[in-house]
Amino acid sequence: MPYTLITGASNGIGREFAREFARRKSDMVLVARSESSLRNLSAELSPAGEPVIHLCIEDLSDPESPRRVHQYCRDRSLGVELIINCAGFGYAGEYDSMPLEALQEMIQVNTAAMAVLIRLFLPAMIAEKKGGIINVASIGGFQGISRLGLYSATKSFILTLSESLHEELKNKGIKVVAVSPGYIETGFHARARQHPECSILPLSSPSVVVKASIKGLIKNRLHVYPTMTDFMVVFFQRFLPRSAVLKTAAFLAPLKHKGER
Ligand SMILES: NC(=O)c1ccc[n+]([C@@H]2O[C@H](COP(=O)([O-])OP(=O)(O)OC[C@H]3O[C@@H](n4cnc5c(N)ncnc54)[C@H](OP(=O)(O)O)[C@@H]3O)[C@@H](O)[C@H]2O)c1
Repeated sequence: MPYTLITGASNGIGREFAREFARRKSDMVLVARSESSLRNLSAELSPAGEPVIHLCIEDLSDPESPRRVHQYCRDRSLGVELIINCAGFGYAGEYDSMPLEALQEMIQVNTAAMAVLIRLFLPAMIAEKKGGIINVASIGGFQGISRLGLYSATKSFILTLSESLHEELKNKGIKVVAVSPGYIETGFHARARQHPECSILPLSSPSVVVKASIKGLIKNRLHVYPTMTDFMVVFFQRFLPRSAVLKTAAFLAPLKHKGER
């Protein structure tokens, strides 16, 4: 039976993906650090053992973790047909005061882990001439954002890699989607130390992202924008000078955080 592998499944958008794929009776491998959250989710989604849910407890900031995830699936002969790269986090604040540990962790979790995971699972998908990859990017990846610099750079990485792979794999039966949400109500903002209520952009629910992503996957759309606002934010950039785009991005980012300089 083909499996759906979801990273960042313990919370927010990844957890909503898991709920949706459970409704669709898809067997799954769920990846995150929080074992208790994944166990609770598994009990909620599969009380009688259907669909089959495997929990792979991994810290994706460890450069070896993608290999362990792949090995976990190989050892159990779990054929992964769809990868959803959702694990990620942000950090709001001046670059010069960003803790170096957070910087390295973000590069590893948001970019390197997903790039290596795709590389490891892709040969089997190509051999089967069938597969899908959903990469959770962000509207923040379409331009640099002052005080969210590294985060927006990691999301640009995801967008660029997704574009390349979409083109490279479209004749091999593999679909590649990059979904770019705006502000979604999850644990993301607390961890990033930002306040979405301070932005004029609306907050949406994780289910909006999941529904749009699945629709995009079925149609093999490279870029998916969960809401009309997300689409418009990216679309209107084409008509503005880059300096205006950067100013607007900084204005729209919810960076007014309490007790910060
Ligand atoms: N919320 C938004 O407004 C928004 C907008 C655009 C894009 N996104 C993107 O959406 C994705 C999901 O974020 P979310 O909003 O759902 O945030 P969230 O509620 O904070 O969930 C983040 C998920 O990533 C996992 N994760 C974080 N660090 C990890 C690590 N070192 N190893 C393994 N898993 C790790 C977390 O699991 P554990 O803590 O259990 O490890 C959790 O399941 C991220 O890539 C984010 O950049 C979010």
